[in-house]
Amino acid sequence: MHKRHLLRATLAVLVAQGFALAPALAADPLKIGLILPMTGQQASTGRQIDAAVKLYMAQNNPVIGGRKVEVIVKDDASTPDQTRRMAQELVVNDKVVALAGFGITPSAMATAPIATQSKTPMVVMAAATSAITEASPFVVRTSFTLPQAAVAIAEWANKNGIKKVVSLVSDYGPGIDAEKYFADRITLNGGQVMEKLRTPLRGPDFAPVLQKVRDASPQALFVFLPSGQGAAFMKQFAERGLDKAGIRLIGTGDITDDDQLNDMGDVALGVVTAHHYAAAHKSPANQKFVDAFKKANNGMRPNFMAVGGYDGIRVIVEGLKASKGEGGEKLLNAMKGQLFESPRGQVLIDGQTRDVVHDMYVRKVERVGGELQNVEFDAIKAMKDPGKSK
Ligand code: DHB
Repeated sequence: MHKRHLLRATLAVLVAQGFALAPALAADPLKIGLILPMTGQQASTGRQIDAAVKLYMAQNNPVIGGRKVEVIVKDDASTPDQTRRMAQELVVNDKVVALAGFGITPSAMATAPIATQSKTPMVVMAAATSAITEASPFVVRTSFTLPQAAVAIAEWANKNGIKKVVSLVSDYGPGIDAEKYFADRITLNGGQVMEKLRTPLRGPDFAPVLQKVRDASPQALFVFLPSGQGAAFMKQFAERGLDKAGIRLIGTGDITDDDQLNDMGDVALGVVTAHHYAAAHKSPANQKFVDAFKKANNGMRPNFMAVGGYDGIRVIVEGLKASKGEGGEKLLNAMKGQLFESPRGQVLIDGQTRDVVHDMYVRKVERVGGELQNVEFDAIKAMKDPGKSK
């Protein structure tokens, strides 16, 4: 008798709680799945983007239609099979409204079919091979493209009397883009690529290729390596005496990455690169961003990956505001055409290509107030991806 009474009372409580749960369910968070390499060779990319997304969330604390926005971070260790599996789980189990991150091109490429099949917008914050945005109509990019950076530095080389060049790139998507677009542009303007060298993405050894560069004795060496490999490369470049041999080093800004630049030493001084972001970019918006980022991260300096992440989460959150919290095509359409002031300068998400349109700066490494900085001195304004103008 007593037992039955207790059971009934418990049921009553459960029912009451059930009713109480209903409004809580309506206020379920809007979830964003952020897949990053937090460990392994590309870990600095993950660390930078994660910190930037956390900063944006802390600064804006977005609530849309009474629902909080929640970011779920997954570490794929830049293994494409893991990226794909994590994306699948985030879509099916966590019901995320958007996928984001993607430290390297193969991770983005592996996930694109999932974005298409599930109609989930996928914001690429790091990977930069031109073709990624064509892998799915649900891809939006806030990083940059290698053709943008490679064409911008080739133009600078042409204007500055550099005619004979050797190129050295990482042997996968972005490197192949960099090699091709650099060579096409410099030869179009009368220059020549004497030799095209490549190193593997995983565990590259720069010694043998640098010997080849020395033997070829070009005016300049053009380099693209993914974020995180620049410091090891610079060390080898100096150790082999290539700087002393009068071979000028130029490249995409990935090799003078602001995350590592300060540790590179004098060998980096005078290196000219083209890129969309420098921590030293002069604008009030960037100053505010750099200060807040450093303050929240023990003095860590934001690099171009951080800006890709900061702008990427902004594009998603503003998109969700416009779609009133709906995902799918509504969210995708609300991301297209966004125009805003980023720490890098003005950014447009091209409504047709879903790719990023921004200024490509030409910069030179200088010592400024005791720090090595990429100091911008020229720019190609509002540059679209040259990879898409065919
Ligand atoms: C890619 C990765 C990088 O670290 C980088 O600096 C540029 C491009 C990529 O895999 O697409």
